[in-house]
Amino acid sequence: MAISRRQYDAVVVGAGGAGLRAALQLAEAGLKVAVLSKVFPTRSHTVAAQGGIGAALGNMGEDSWLWHMYDTVKGSDYLGDQDAIEFLCREAPQAIIELEHFGMPFDRNDDGTIYQRPFGGHSSNFGEKPVQRSCCAADRSGHAMLHTLYQRNVRANTQFYVEWMALDLVRDAHGNVLGVTAMEMETGEISILQARATLFATGGAGRIYASTTNAFINTGDGLGIAARAGLPLEDMEFWQFHPTGVAGAGVLITEGVRGEGGYLLNKDGERFMERYAPNMKDLASRDVVARAMATEIKEGRGAGKEADHVLLKLDHLGLETIEKRLPGIREIARKFANVDPVRDPIPVVPTVHYQMGGIPTNYYGEVVVPGADGPNTIVSGFYAAGEVACASVHGANRLGTNSLTDLVVFGKATGNRVIEFLKKNPGQRALPADAGDDTLARINRLDTRKGGEDPAQVARDMRRTMQFHCGVFRFPDTLTEGVAKIREVYERAQNLEIKDKSRVFNTARIEALELLNLIEVARATMVSAEARKESRGAHDRADFHERNDVEWLKHSLWYREGDRLDYKGVTLKPLTAESFEPKARVY
Ligand code: FUM
Repeated sequence: MAISRRQYDAVVVGAGGAGLRAALQLAEAGLKVAVLSKVFPTRSHTVAAQGGIGAALGNMGEDSWLWHMYDTVKGSDYLGDQDAIEFLCREAPQAIIELEHFGMPFDRNDDGTIYQRPFGGHSSNFGEKPVQRSCCAADRSGHAMLHTLYQRNVRANTQFYVEWMALDLVRDAHGNVLGVTAMEMETGEISILQARATLFATGGAGRIYASTTNAFINTGDGLGIAARAGLPLEDMEFWQFHPTGVAGAGVLITEGVRGEGGYLLNKDGERFMERYAPNMKDLASRDVVARAMATEIKEGRGAGKEADHVLLKLDHLGLETIEKRLPGIREIARKFANVDPVRDPIPVVPTVHYQMGGIPTNYYGEVVVPGADGPNTIVSGFYAAGEVACASVHGANRLGTNSLTDLVVFGKATGNRVIEFLKKNPGQRALPADAGDDTLARINRLDTRKGGEDPAQVARDMRRTMQFHCGVFRFPDTLTEGVAKIREVYERAQNLEIKDKSRVFNTARIEALELLNLIEVARATMVSAEARKESRGAHDRADFHERNDVEWLKHSLWYREGDRLDYKGVTLKPLTAESFEPKARVY
């Protein structure tokens, strides 16, 4: 099998919000930038983001970046790094103004300012009452953002490799990253994209679960590639279950519905969030609402014939508000739940939505790993931003709207860091003579294996295992059993056989390669979850019900080699603000 070569100043893998924001920064600086994407850029998963982007603009009443920071630290259950969180919240307003100037069609107030809606866990005056902080374009905010950023990139001459899948990092003997190997999905051509800087913005891996709001493309490619390159994955035990996925379908119903005044009911018509979060009610943070819903269902107060969901009521908002602020939701509810929310409530269940962990980075997007003998090392030439990265601003639980903020704030900051790096490091580093050989050998093994495992069956078993053993509530025996099962599935995944040899668009090949990335993420998740003996944010254990700051206020680092864990401290010191010390988290 031959391998072609191409050269760039920077290669960005992934064309969602983080990838496009970073690429824009680089292309506008006159650099030669390639963006690789498995799908047409405007179909990247950012397109599915609905409710908005968080920033303390204060358009609807008083707000401040410090309140935003407090909410984010508290939302993270104190596991977020406070330097990165301060950076996120301080930069957020400017990031919105930039998007506005790029042409993003935000909803407007009568005075022309950007409309902002309330969202879960966002408050004014350090938790006093809900605040309106989410800047939105109806319930299609990600769609508006992605199209805006794509068009700016076209103008800036970013070069797109559409329907290309990254396969492996190319590194030299010192561990410096020199680019990626990648496959053109239609033709199967394999190429080395050599780059002076390589930036991963590949998004999340929700497809390790059976039921998720994530697109089919969210297969953790960046995480799998990093793990195979020997890099650790941070805080992988923390997965967010979005409270309102359409029951039975998994499609997202934005928290913006509750922001606009919708609320949850159990089968008795009770507004049960008042019992679980007396102050913030339906606008408590997501882990709290998801657990409340799961408890209602577990204790027999679920709605429907199977008592397996709760109801999201919004008819009282009226047709005009629903059509103006939540038109996409009405369409989704009609198509996927066969209800018109103008009249009837939407059946919803907590559904896997977001991975808080990822490739460890600092708040400039540099990939940082613990050095062999103690101090941290920056992996030269390698950057990550967006959901694939763990900066860590979301800690143990992300607040709604902070994902889009994360994409543009860290996308831009990472772009700027790459520009500085390239100024100091002119010229391409030499590729090793065997660059790409490992990738070719891996593909060849997959292509030629006979009598191996069926990727579709292995993927099903992985998803079932994750769904059952690593859900909203986690139990000691199911976790222990989950580790054994996922390790067994992992071994089977090392022996995949592509059953469909027709190579039509390489679909079967791509699915097998994606599974090889997913299974790394699944194993990292289960092993990290079993090991964390406390409850924090989205990680809730029946046998260790409380948060334990004495022993567990630390980030996990999972390594593929040896399937082992290490830990590192949380940065409690912000850049300029006072630290928010861990305290009981009530809403
Ligand atoms: O509910 C939503 O619209 C999702 C937003 C988010 O995940 O930030």
